[in-house]
Amino acid sequence: MSLAITNIGSLATCDENLGAGLAGEIQNAAIVIDGGIISWVGKAGEVPAADEQIDAEGKAVIPGFVDSHAHLLFAGERAKEFAARMSGEKYSAGGIKSTVSHTRAASDKDLEQNLIHLIGELTNSGVTTFETKSGYGLSVKDELRSLEIAKCHTQETTFLGAHVVPEDFAGRADDYVELVKGEMLDAVAGNAKWIDVFCDEGAFDIDQSREILRAGIAKGLAPRIHANQLAAGGGVQLAVELECASADHCTHLSDNDIEALAGSNTVATLLPGAEFSTRAVYPDARRLFAAGATVALATDCNPGSSYTTSMPFCIAVAIRDMHFTPEQALWSATMGGANALRREDIGSLSVGKSADLVMLNAPSFIHLGYRPGVDLINKVIKDGTIRYEENK
Ligand code: NIG
Ligand code: FE
Repeated sequence: MSLAITNIGSLATCDENLGAGLAGEIQNAAIVIDGGIISWVGKAGEVPAADEQIDAEGKAVIPGFVDSHAHLLFAGERAKEFAARMSGEKYSAGGIKSTVSHTRAASDKDLEQNLIHLIGELTNSGVTTFETKSGYGLSVKDELRSLEIAKCHTQETTFLGAHVVPEDFAGRADDYVELVKGEMLDAVAGNAKWIDVFCDEGAFDIDQSREILRAGIAKGLAPRIHANQLAAGGGVQLAVELECASADHCTHLSDNDIEALAGSNTVATLLPGAEFSTRAVYPDARRLFAAGATVALATDCNPGSSYTTSMPFCIAVAIRDMHFTPEQALWSATMGGANALRREDIGSLSVGKSADLVMLNAPSFIHLGYRPGVDLINKVIKDGTIRYEENK
């Protein structure tokens, strides 16, 4: 069954071979989907015949967002902590422990229900692929069940046993590192694609992070790092050393960090929701783009530092406060995320890729930044199937 979407005012393919600029934009365009895969892209006047048609009525179409960084397995919320921060309190890694208590106390059913609710929010905001981490269980049993639940909903599952040292290991960080890279890793390895470490002030240091990531790599997991969020440090350099798919946060970057990222295969994943919600200083994406680094944008959805599932919100903040151009922001939220997950089948509207796309109630993707806070999502299509339709 083939489907042609015609009369698209602006089709941002995010494939520079197909259209203008980084957004690969084609005006007055059409796209054809066959068997869940994109089979044709071009001018509306040249569209081949298809079994079914959707008239886009001049709206913009973009690739589905790829949210390459989220923490969706948790219970409870921390609104009071957010309110305290907005009154001047500083964010610290320690807040994670309160979510750990709620998560351990929750039933499997409640954890999965919360995950399903958040996936619904992501889908309705245009996300067609998401990653999720464990990291609020921090015991063998609770990390394992988090990942067992996660893998039923996404192939992008990440083991984050090294989020913080939990209360029950207070003063025994070395014992906890042994647990994470030994018994915990053995238990979860079959359920995770990635291994992540929070390498930062108040979490894990460089040596601990290296040990844990190396243990994960030896078990067949691919590495990624939470790096340089709370302080400048060696996290980004470690990400490059270990050929991580991504160094995430990158709030504090030295010139050497930027040079290392630009000369590597490691994506710099920026998370505007975290700076917004912790009142941190935004990193300046211009430095990364000027050096030639690959940049991704993601939600970092979690109950502490960034409780948003909205990629359009993150794009708007990235444009306004991190100095992305609208084109760079769109590319980073789609192709950048695909790169950060080392996925070649998603991220752009190129022939042969999965038919994951979003129709906007707007004439161009620039409106994602231009109309902040306004829900512009008209339709979300994943693998050629409509997953969300406005008012339906
Ligand atoms: O990505 N940085 C570490 N982890 C999360 C925060 C988790 C929390 O505060 O609950 C983050 O910001
Ligand atoms: Fe995170």
